[in-house]
Amino acid sequence: MSKANFYHSLQKELSRLDESGTSKRNEHFIEDFNNDPSPKAMIGGKAYSIFNSNDYLGLRHHPNLKSAEHAASQKLGTGPGAVRFISGSFAVHRQLEKRLARFHGREDAIIYSSAFAANLAVIFSLVRGQSKDSVISNSVLVISDELNHRSIIDGVRLPNLGKEEKAIFKHLDADSLEQILKSQIGKFLRVVVITDGVFSMLGEYQDLRKIRSVIDQYDQQYPEGILLIVDDCHGVGAFGSTGRGCEEVSGARADVLVGTLGKGFGADGGYAVGDQTVIDYLRESSATYIYSNSIAPGCAAAAQAAIDLLDSSEGAALLQKLKMNIEALKNQLKEKGFQLAAESSHPIQPVLIGDSLQTKALVKKMFERGFLISSINYPVVPKGRDEIRVQLSAAHTLEDITDFVNALSEAARELEII
Ligand SMILES: Cc1ncc(COP(=O)(O)O)c(C=O)c1O
Repeated sequence: MSKANFYHSLQKELSRLDESGTSKRNEHFIEDFNNDPSPKAMIGGKAYSIFNSNDYLGLRHHPNLKSAEHAASQKLGTGPGAVRFISGSFAVHRQLEKRLARFHGREDAIIYSSAFAANLAVIFSLVRGQSKDSVISNSVLVISDELNHRSIIDGVRLPNLGKEEKAIFKHLDADSLEQILKSQIGKFLRVVVITDGVFSMLGEYQDLRKIRSVIDQYDQQYPEGILLIVDDCHGVGAFGSTGRGCEEVSGARADVLVGTLGKGFGADGGYAVGDQTVIDYLRESSATYIYSNSIAPGCAAAAQAAIDLLDSSEGAALLQKLKMNIEALKNQLKEKGFQLAAESSHPIQPVLIGDSLQTKALVKKMFERGFLISSINYPVVPKGRDEIRVQLSAAHTLEDITDFVNALSEAARELEII
């Protein structure tokens, strides 16, 4: 009976989420893709244009990735069979790590099953000593941007820090970070600063040059210095003249950079890059690496093909096309009278709608018209700032973009949004 009572509470919670309009489990199941230049998702036999995917370069359908994945899985099987230190470490994993390190100009890289798993491990490992015998000091202050991704928030929760060991700096505000660093001198041996590179809600990015300059100024004030961890899952493979992301755009580097293989790279999995000592230590300390499978060998091969492609003339052309698509979308949206919730030069373009119910109604109308888009609603964004988060791809044609903006403006006019 007691379990039935608990399940009853779960059911009530599900109903509460449904009524508040924030439930996420009613997913659309993609059955297939058609053969358009920007493949449309087939759902219930109908084709849908996708404007809410992180596949920024359209690489998930690229023949190079598919054939690399196929060849690797034919030879090595479909799954790793064990975690890395048992018998699940393949040459293709190590090659990918070396390729990632070279791509980011670092000494080494470590692959995780996802960037979420990477953030949990990187943050926990570099904040807390892993055993009672550990020689790593636990006198650490963690400082995080107030709008960091959920995986960072959970990563900061894991070490169970005291209230005084955590601080939040104002979003994109290096002065706010400086205030905290200044006020905590003498209280901690070291500091870990953590931020997203590109922020996924509005497409803005952290100016790493400013953050780095503040960190460099205060580094000597803490006996073990200040470590900068940056999660640039949306930046890598989408942002910057060669797709190196936020570091390339802002001209400064993280000490540890976390990325995903599942967005711009069109594959799946996550990784961290950094100095050899840090990566060696992460390989010894990351629970999500030691006790959880790595990515499938085929996936590692596909990711490597994606990096090679990004570094080729074809990759440069795709980045250029993406840039043109961003400009075209922004111009067309402005012509139709839409307002953007933030100025973004990233393929994430936030169209400001304002009202939560109208935003949801717009998503529904667009689905009926054959477009997949997502709304970002309060409390993720402030009240009255609900938005449609449009995500562009280099695979979109100009015609796709025009069709999308025309449909969005018709639907928005029907709802008296514009
Ligand atoms: C900023 C950021 N970090 C991490 C992740 C997690 O990436 P993955 O899907 O590889 O776990 C996401 C995905 O949404 C993200 O937006």
